[in-house]
Amino acid sequence: MSERRAITVDVAGLAPGCVRAVEAEGRRLLLCNAFGRFYALENRCPHIGVPLDGGRLEGTTLECPLHGGRLDVRDGTPQALPIRRRAVTFAVREVQGGIEIDPSEEDTACTT
Ligand code: FES
Repeated sequence: MSERRAITVDVAGLAPGCVRAVEAEGRRLLLCNAFGRFYALENRCPHIGVPLDGGRLEGTTLECPLHGGRLDVRDGTPQALPIRRRAVTFAVREVQGGIEIDPSEEDTACTT
């Protein structure tokens, strides 16, 4: 029997267009509010691994604060160089009091 490790994260105050870094299950995550929908990805740029939480979110595109590479927060796909690899994203479910994330389960499907 597998143990469910989903966590509930409070997203109060996380307005559309904003991001927030959190830690859960030993993983550094980045929560993103894109047009009122929440997404979670590993807080690590696929280029050289710096945290993404200083980046700018425009729509569903996040710009890395170091070199300006871009990725789609919905599924982690690269949108602009120098990011060439997909970012790790996690399935998110809205629940009462916040959003539920299982940081042990990577979401490989596009959420659009
Ligand atoms: S570290 Fe993010 S684009 Fe280079």
